[in-house]
Amino acid sequence: MLATEGKKIWMDGELVDFAAARVHVLSHTLHYGVGVFEGIRAYGTRDGTAIFRLEEHVRRLVTSARIYKMPCPYTEAEIAKAVLATQAANEFVPAYIRPILYRGEPALGVKNLKGRVSLAIASIPAQKYLGAGSESGVRAKISPFRKPRSDAVPSFAKAAGNYLNSYLAGIDAGEEGYDEAVLLDDRGYVAEGTGENIFIVRDGRVYTPGLESDILLGVTRESVKEIATDLGFAVIEKSISVNELLTADEVFFSGTYAEIAPVREIGHYKVGARSPGAITRQIMDVFYRVVRGEEPKYARWLTPVPPVKAPTPRATRR
Ligand SMILES: Cc1ncc(COP(=O)(O)O)c(C=O)c1O
Repeated sequence: MLATEGKKIWMDGELVDFAAARVHVLSHTLHYGVGVFEGIRAYGTRDGTAIFRLEEHVRRLVTSARIYKMPCPYTEAEIAKAVLATQAANEFVPAYIRPILYRGEPALGVKNLKGRVSLAIASIPAQKYLGAGSESGVRAKISPFRKPRSDAVPSFAKAAGNYLNSYLAGIDAGEEGYDEAVLLDDRGYVAEGTGENIFIVRDGRVYTPGLESDILLGVTRESVKEIATDLGFAVIEKSISVNELLTADEVFFSGTYAEIAPVREIGHYKVGARSPGAITRQIMDVFYRVVRGEEPKYARWLTPVPPVKAPTPRATRR
């Protein structure tokens, strides 16, 4: 993901030029990582551009802000409207949309809650996060860096500081020649990827770790659970051991940026007979039809982007 190009960035009610979207160097968020954000995708459909599961992403953003005591100056409806306005102004399709709530005023001191909470939203061109392997299978390794326990750093909040952990695991995997890392939880069970949830398939059943493995509750994960259930597969949330991962019939990642990415190798272990496996393939096929607006049953997951530039909301809750 290279956020080097874009047209306009929405900053507290104004669409400013990409290059002019700046924050003070002494901002609280820059120094302590106390910022909460979302990753959202916009897709091209037959009926125009649509945003995938906008409401769920906005709700998670607001929930993440609550745990970090960042009073959100916007209602959920205002944030959703601002996301649509940002997408309409930039017009990239597919797009990766990044709203972030942050304290951008100069305010040093870790306990300093005085700075105003601001919202910025960018929409940049989306690429395949895990490269060519996104379709045919990625190579992952088990990371030496474990997930912090949620009673130390809450995993269900999508907070900037959480990504120190993903950064270490992701860089290590890259340096070792892998596409992605699988992080274990504090107990040694499988948790998730650096920016994805993980699923395994075993004997025709689909398994994924639950919150006890200190994961982010992914929006794509929820979508995959529903699609797999509708396809007739049993979907079970449980702690997954490394042995179960290494001997699974199929493994795949799910996430907004990675979408659904089959895993073909974990370290020196080959996953299953072919990549993607048959059940992963079925889930992927439905998922990619859903996001293109080709599955009426899941049409409620798509919010159309109005073609005209909507007036952008200003904060009502300052
Ligand atoms: C650590 C982590 N886990 C899981 C996910 C997948 O979540 P979602 O499907 O909501 O993008 C992400 C991506 O946001 C992530 O960063």
